[in-house]
Amino acid sequence: MARLDDLTRPPGRPPRLLYGGDYNPEQWPEETWAEDARLMRAAGVTSVTLGVFSWSRIEPTPGAREFGWLDRVMDLMHAHGVGVVLATPTSSPPPWLGRLHPETLPRDEDGRTEWWGSRQHFSHSSEAYRRHAAAITEDLAARYAHHPALTMWHINNEYCTYDWGDGAARTFRSWLKDRHGTLDALNTAWGTDFWGQRYGDWDEVLPPRRAHYLKNPAHVLDFRRYTSDLLLECYRAERDIVRRHTPHLPVTTNFMPFWSGQDGWAWAAEEDVVSVDVYPDPRDPAAGAYNAMIGDLTRSEAGGRPWMVMEQAAGAVNWRTVNHPKPYGLNRLWALQSVARGADAVHYFQWRQSRQGAETFHSAMLGHAGERGRVFRETVRIGEDLAVLGPHVAGSRVTTEIALLHDWNSWWADPGDGALSTRVDHAELVRAWHRALWDAHLPASFAHPHHDLSGHRLVLVPHLHLLDDPAIENLLAYVRGGGTLVCGFLTGIADRDGRVRPGGMDARLRELLGIDLLQEWWPLDEGEHADCGTFRGTLWSEELTPAPGAETVAAYRGGELDGRPAILRTGRAWYVSTLLEPAALSGLLASVAREAGVVPVLDALPEGVEAVRRGDLLFLLHHGGEPVTVPLPGRHRDLLTGTVTEGAVKLDRFGVAVLEEAP
Ligand code: GLA
Repeated sequence: MARLDDLTRPPGRPPRLLYGGDYNPEQWPEETWAEDARLMRAAGVTSVTLGVFSWSRIEPTPGAREFGWLDRVMDLMHAHGVGVVLATPTSSPPPWLGRLHPETLPRDEDGRTEWWGSRQHFSHSSEAYRRHAAAITEDLAARYAHHPALTMWHINNEYCTYDWGDGAARTFRSWLKDRHGTLDALNTAWGTDFWGQRYGDWDEVLPPRRAHYLKNPAHVLDFRRYTSDLLLECYRAERDIVRRHTPHLPVTTNFMPFWSGQDGWAWAAEEDVVSVDVYPDPRDPAAGAYNAMIGDLTRSEAGGRPWMVMEQAAGAVNWRTVNHPKPYGLNRLWALQSVARGADAVHYFQWRQSRQGAETFHSAMLGHAGERGRVFRETVRIGEDLAVLGPHVAGSRVTTEIALLHDWNSWWADPGDGALSTRVDHAELVRAWHRALWDAHLPASFAHPHHDLSGHRLVLVPHLHLLDDPAIENLLAYVRGGGTLVCGFLTGIADRDGRVRPGGMDARLRELLGIDLLQEWWPLDEGEHADCGTFRGTLWSEELTPAPGAETVAAYRGGELDGRPAILRTGRAWYVSTLLEPAALSGLLASVAREAGVVPVLDALPEGVEAVRRGDLLFLLHHGGEPVTVPLPGRHRDLLTGTVTEGAVKLDRFGVAVLEEAP
């Protein structure tokens, strides 16, 4: 199987990191291409992604093939030592496809058509779309399979579409038949006797379209599973075509970061290289922690192997309400932060800022200010840094002893508008727990609840509403085997169909966690706190009766829950029935980690400094605005500057040091 390692550690050559971005030369006159190639070389660019949105250029009329321009770009890149990650252009079909085959256009929940004129206007269920996508993929792969510039395939772009139309209704039914077998089984799984929703004929089963009031959550859960699976079918069809032509080259598709629409575990298993697009908000104080989390998740999806940042922004994006540029140094900091967490390829959207179209105001490696602009200067600097780091870093691993469990099925099973509190947000809870570890300098990975957990000393479940039986057995076996487990509230409430377990929580889990009776859930309003003595709970609280033998580590004080456990422990299994405020959550997880034998990368780091080990190297990353001094015993050499430090390392605003031990 092809891997990123094949590109970053080519036989007979020094290891290297890939650096570059989306290159859209068709938006520019050919005279500009030579300048692009020159500036790419000046910036140390080694890799570009071509052709992401080129379908209408390659096939301007049905069946036409205009490859001449792409041949010239491929040759130019090769002549300048730039490898090409070639995209199948299937995320933006040409207008003629929608005109000739209106069924290729998706429908939204209200039945409205999503027309051409933007992008991603394709229905995963349309046979015509799939046929035309396969044809262009076939011809693209045949034409460039042996081109020396070709290094990797990039299938489609950010698969993120939904379809509630009639074509989707047909494929949804067939997916449901595979899952449930009979209509009776579907009726049982969805609990359709509630509100008289029982189906008597398969043709009555539709995607969960606009309805008068709350939808059936089991119906929505299956629709989300189905959508992820159908998009994955589209990906696989194109992947298999390119693999047939180039079995030796890796294939990827770029994920949106922590995106709810695709089951990242299932998708990553079908990729040779896992890649992600990540756009933290430069004004968000939590952006550094967020970038770290996306790195940890992507590395985990890649099974711990090196992964790829397929897109990030050199400066501002153009899709927030207000889009801020990155102050000098921040782009470099986040790029190197991804490398610290296992990325071996750092790409951007995009190489040259567009002068026309919807993303004219989105930054690029080469902005409107051109080669004299400060954004380009930073592009050059990052290229220099990556060139220095490549031989020391490429292929090395990040090791962790803590796993956070995450599963898209559980995310999809959250009850949505029918929940006791719509303030409970799966993604926010995962972020809060990961952030607590980040604050404590405890490196973590992510895992699926079915994964073998025995390699982790500590397993955390921030929020898994749905846990199927194999997942529960896995957690029990993990603790029996000596592992330490901490579960957040609403863990294991529901089975695989989203049906609430008898007693409000799986009985085996209740026994493990020391809960005799889960009496009532008490969600908290915005601004409302639950006093727990030394800390405050937010968002949620619970009326629990502990089982004999369970230890109440912290109890609610005052109000209805006075004296009830907020945190329970039974041996190595912990249950946390509220969301602790950030410092308290971080403190709790750090102390449980210490007891489980896990210590932070470094103690006593100045505010805003992150420490990560990758292979034998120590990355120090400073997310703050003022210079700091990090105490660090011993002698170290900073690979980025060549300087040797003794006893302490100084970091400027957004400064980074990549340290190896020095004699
Ligand atoms: C996504 C897309 C890119 C571009 C960027 C802008 O990640 O894949 O084509 O639109 O967003 O941030």
